[in-house]
Amino acid sequence: MKVIVCENYDEMSAKAFEVMKELLDAKKDAVLGLATGSSPVGLYKEMIQYHKDGYSYKDIKSYNLDEYVGIDRKDPQSYYTFMYENLFKDIDIDLNNTHVPFGSTEADCKAYEDALSEVSIDLQVLGIGQNGHIGFNEPGTPFETLTHIVDLTENTREANARFFDNDINKVPTQAISMGIGTIMKSKKVLLVANGENKADAVKAMIEGPIDTACAASALQNHADVVVVLDKAAASKLTK
Ligand code: F6R
Repeated sequence: MKVIVCENYDEMSAKAFEVMKELLDAKKDAVLGLATGSSPVGLYKEMIQYHKDGYSYKDIKSYNLDEYVGIDRKDPQSYYTFMYENLFKDIDIDLNNTHVPFGSTEADCKAYEDALSEVSIDLQVLGIGQNGHIGFNEPGTPFETLTHIVDLTENTREANARFFDNDINKVPTQAISMGIGTIMKSKKVLLVANGENKADAVKAMIEGPIDTACAASALQNHADVVVVLDKAAASKLTK
């Protein structure tokens, strides 16, 4: 894993965009794997700025990691809406080329995995949960898992309550998520993490044993991972 430590969130976002820009410039029809949450918002702002500067995303395809179960796509809290508001509406990507998983059944999971098997993700953007989850692959998820329905842990629902009026009872209990096996198929992984509350998870991901107790530790087995951190998220690393 290549680890880059930055002063703050803005520098982290700019560094992460540098990694993505290399791909965007080399391949106008690149396939991006995208994440929601606070961590990549700055990276998405950089992507938007690049469009304002003249870059066209019209041939880029995107596949998102996950979506809540039981929330309508048009709901303000859906991950589809998050992607639309934080990225898609401000770039010229063809919305038909954007994919966010949806549904609650095995057939829905298989349909998303089948769609993914027709492409090859060039760059998968990831955040990391305080419990080490990537996508919504919570601790204990087998590393070979493909797109599946997940029961969200209390810890994850608490962390995400900030998007639901700080009321954990409003946070859905399940999500549909790419599996760790799905994520590991991507050619390159770009993980961004900021803040002290991510420091333990970051340490377990990079320096801990490769163990399902920390889903992100699976990335130690991936050949091309770039981790971009702010100082606080990197604060518990020993090397
Ligand atoms: C989001 C996702 C999650 C988040 C993680 C960190 O699509 O799959 O794994 O990346 O929960 O969330 P933030 O960035 O909000 O701290």
